[in-house]
Amino acid sequence: MPNRPTIYVTRRIPEVGLLQVRRVCEVWLWEGELPPPKGVILQEVADCDGLLCLLTDPIDAEVIGAGKRLRVISQFAVGVDNIDLAAATARGIPVGHTPGVLTEATADLAFALLTAAARRLPEGIEKVRAGKWRTWEPLGLLGAAVWEATVGIVGLGRIGTAVARRARGFGMRVLYYDRTRKPDLEAELGLEYVEMDDLLARADFVTLHCPLTPQTHHLIGEEALRRMKPKAVLVNTARGPVVETNALVQALKEGWIAAAALDVTDPEPLPPDHPLLELPNCIVVPHIGSATVAARDRMAVMAAENLLAGLRGERLPYCANPEVYGGG
Ligand code: DGY
Repeated sequence: MPNRPTIYVTRRIPEVGLLQVRRVCEVWLWEGELPPPKGVILQEVADCDGLLCLLTDPIDAEVIGAGKRLRVISQFAVGVDNIDLAAATARGIPVGHTPGVLTEATADLAFALLTAAARRLPEGIEKVRAGKWRTWEPLGLLGAAVWEATVGIVGLGRIGTAVARRARGFGMRVLYYDRTRKPDLEAELGLEYVEMDDLLARADFVTLHCPLTPQTHHLIGEEALRRMKPKAVLVNTARGPVVETNALVQALKEGWIAAAALDVTDPEPLPPDHPLLELPNCIVVPHIGSATVAARDRMAVMAAENLLAGLRGERLPYCANPEVYGGG
């Protein structure tokens, strides 16, 4: 690259990625612990050649339009629902993302949430901490068995498949629903393809692994929740708005389903007085699916590689809008 391009980075990411970028670019880094306000992003992108952003940044048509010199957007995440891909494509700007490197970390968390909700771990921990553990109780904190139960996976992409592998290790029957049927994976892992309604009605655990799109927005609303078994557990490590929050609160309060375990919520973050946080049958963790040192380091390197490729005018190794290159 002849001149040092200018890059705006909207939050500190692991140093291993930042170092790569700093070697060849002038880096303007937002040092705040919270995301930069949209007004700041609008100002900063106006004079930048590249943007390295997070899922908490609204990279909409206005921001993309303000980046008159912008040649590449690189997202430090696999999901890109915060970015107006159509607006980026219309301006000829490739958008990078980080698929693959966070698959196993996110699948581990989904399974941890599933097991924690089934076995009521937060209630157990709370009981011990509150000094209420008085004896071994034959009828205390009885939960649901995971071994040989039925799990329904919504979205059999990378993470859904990684969850299916874990579920098979727990002797589970695995149902899945996806827009596209995957016969090879069905055969390899012994999965059963079912329609969404069937999955909801049969699964003891429903775990969500679809991207957030207009089609999946509020996919799990009142109708879906009422279809689930009263003993079912809902796990969401995908995106908060895939679930209709008010309907979920009602479902958990009124026993339409037994429990929910959420890594993502709508809104995100949840305010401390949110009704979901008052329910003993709801576990919420703060969007930590990819939060392992290894996964975050690899995400940082991948985000840097995408960014630098875009600045060199090369095709991004991991592009979320390949249509920008014409013909995919
Ligand atoms: C993603 O990458 O989309 C996750 O939600 C955060 O790692």
